[in-house]
Amino acid sequence: MSTNEQDYAALDLAARLATEYRRDMAAADSVPVTGYGEIHARFDGPVPEQGTDALSLIAELDTGARDGLRGIVAPRFYAWVNGSSHLAGVAADWLTSAWGQNGAGIPMSPAAAAVEAVAARWLLELLDLPPESSVGLVSGATIANFVGLAAARGELLLRQGWNVEEDGLYGAPNLRVLIGADAHNTVFSGLRYLGLGEKRVTTIATDSLGRMLPGDLECALKASSDPAIVIGQAGQINTGVSDPFAAIVPLVHAHGGWIHVDGAFGLWARASEKHRHRLDGIEQADSMATDGHKWLQTPYDCGFTIVRHEAAHRRAMDMQASYLTRDNAQFRHPGAYVPELSRRARGFAAWAMMRRLGRSGVATMVDEDIRIAQLMAAGMAAIPGVTVINQPELNQFIVRFGADRGDEAGDRLTQATVDRIQQEAVAFMGTALWRGRLIMRVSVCSIATTERDAQITVDAVRSAWEAVQAAG
Ligand SMILES: Cc1ncc(COP(=O)(O)O)c(C=O)c1O
Repeated sequence: MSTNEQDYAALDLAARLATEYRRDMAAADSVPVTGYGEIHARFDGPVPEQGTDALSLIAELDTGARDGLRGIVAPRFYAWVNGSSHLAGVAADWLTSAWGQNGAGIPMSPAAAAVEAVAARWLLELLDLPPESSVGLVSGATIANFVGLAAARGELLLRQGWNVEEDGLYGAPNLRVLIGADAHNTVFSGLRYLGLGEKRVTTIATDSLGRMLPGDLECALKASSDPAIVIGQAGQINTGVSDPFAAIVPLVHAHGGWIHVDGAFGLWARASEKHRHRLDGIEQADSMATDGHKWLQTPYDCGFTIVRHEAAHRRAMDMQASYLTRDNAQFRHPGAYVPELSRRARGFAAWAMMRRLGRSGVATMVDEDIRIAQLMAAGMAAIPGVTVINQPELNQFIVRFGADRGDEAGDRLTQATVDRIQQEAVAFMGTALWRGRLIMRVSVCSIATTERDAQITVDAVRSAWEAVQAAG
């Protein structure tokens, strides 16, 4: 079936429906969703024997899916560390799809490669990281961590005369992996993919909020002469705290190790004059991972790996074939830094968000989200029976309800209160375990969230908690 006018009309319809959705969502409470089962039933059925035009199917998609969408872009969505898919990024992303560019290399799309190169440089400048670093645009921090760890593995083994990219891990010298006790799960996936084993790690003790203890790290580094990949973090998923990089990065280097930092959202504190001191010393780290689709507000998917040793980065990722010509050796080749070949031209949306916000816009957004998180935490801490476990130094904090009534009761009451908040749908939070106990997590990671939202959210939490207590 060739493209027809109805197919072209689908682009306009999609734009209209999307605009309508976003206008509603800007003002909306965090609406409840229709569940998976019902949505699945609407779409399920035999494989269609005949095709249909794009205009009709876009209408069908919108009607069938709309009430099953989670209000992630709503201003009072705090459940996971999700950005708001800013309209500037979305619009750039529409063009990216319509242009149908393959981000794999300069021959496939000179424009995609060139814009990505600019976005990569801007990223380093915004985060004030060493300009010689190489940057790969990947699908998110999970893969960004994997890429950084791949560069680490290759470099530490090469320093011992072993080329893991060519010879694999069979018979390779030993490597150790040292990791903070409160690391994000996704780094373990990276270790698994790399044959380093997610369980074969040495866990470094952390303080009460999740920061790695330098003394413990030093002991572990001294315990063996095998080179170590140390995995630090900027922004703990629950408490938002960061490792003390000024202390730990030099320690790792003094022992011949490589330090990789998972900074999925926390790395963006570097963009703020007010908050960047929390990450002092991180600029000396060997590799880092961060996301665009969190604090930069790009649409999914957008993550960045940043490596201070370009050769190690390229050795780990570069893929060449005779049919993929590289005439322009003087230019940055986008495929040299990522595990994929064909991929979305992510540089367009990343460029668009940095162009839309500028250096001051990014800094203001980070400052505002932190200020709003602090206001909310203070507001919740003032509610009787509510315990705010950490005063946010970044954009994350965690809360327990009824903790004074014992551990089990605290878990039950926390779950009941979060359930109630979700049902009332004024704001949306989730739960997690912290030190073995259930907590409510609050992530303020959206440019859409305002001080007024903070007040509305505190009121919603108070009313849910009072209702839970009244219900016994
Ligand atoms: C600290 C941290 N690391 C890694 C990730 C994984 O990022 P992504 O979901 O973009 O792959 C997250 C996601 O929330 C995170 O908060």
